[in-house]
Amino acid sequence: MQKKDKTYIPAMGFDFLTPFYDTLMKVAMPEEMLKNALLEEAHIRPAQKVLDFGCGTATLAIMAKLKHPKATIVGLDVDEKILSIARNKIAQLGLDIPIEIYSGFNLPFEDEDFDHIISSFVFHHLSTEKKKDILKQCYRILRPGGEIRVLDFGNPQTMIARGVMHLFSLFEPVDDNVRGLIPGYMRDAGFMEVREVRNFKVLWGTFSLYSGLKGGNYGNRPGL
Ligand SMILES: C[S@@+](CC[C@H](N)C(=O)[O-])C[C@H]1O[C@@H](n2cnc3c(N)ncnc32)[C@H](O)[C@@H]1O
Repeated sequence: MQKKDKTYIPAMGFDFLTPFYDTLMKVAMPEEMLKNALLEEAHIRPAQKVLDFGCGTATLAIMAKLKHPKATIVGLDVDEKILSIARNKIAQLGLDIPIEIYSGFNLPFEDEDFDHIISSFVFHHLSTEKKKDILKQCYRILRPGGEIRVLDFGNPQTMIARGVMHLFSLFEPVDDNVRGLIPGYMRDAGFMEVREVRNFKVLWGTFSLYSGLKGGNYGNRPGL
């Protein structure tokens, strides 16, 4: 196995806070609404294969599987600690969601393996270089006609939101999000029709949902 990237940023910035991640998400974020919106936009169909990149505690992967039981949902993350929480949640619900860990460098999947990539609140954990590299790899592992959806912090619209983003920037590389650079990185990676499909504002932050398409003929896949 490739050497692990030890520079990754855990879910809440610090490893010791990881067990509290789900609680904080429920209290501080309109988590369910945001992740439901992402899934509504994704239009996942039965028999499709979906990667939840940076799945964390697997909340989004679980929501996707409950909404689309016939689709294959795979979770990937770099942090074993958060993945053990994910695996427990999945086991308790008796769901079939493969969860994989990787080094943080090369996505451990074949070319054109997935129909969809979904990702929530991960890209603000990645350096600019890593964002660009991961997006290129996402393009590689999507089938022609495959789609990516990235939900993350967007350009803050209120003074409070700008203050919160400033605070975040002390721990996490949110600058690209704040400056609205993610769609450009998606285009540079090869994605077409890159758009901000939804935008949500709360007092302390803005959340953007971006989508992109890998061009080409989808072809005939069984079950679609
Ligand atoms: C704020 S959490 C979001 C978790 C989950 N997607 C959600 O919406 O609740 C950020 C996640 O990104 C993961 N992460 C950080 N660097 C990563 C990388 N290079 N590759 C994949 N995941 C990464 C962290 O381990 C963490 O689980």
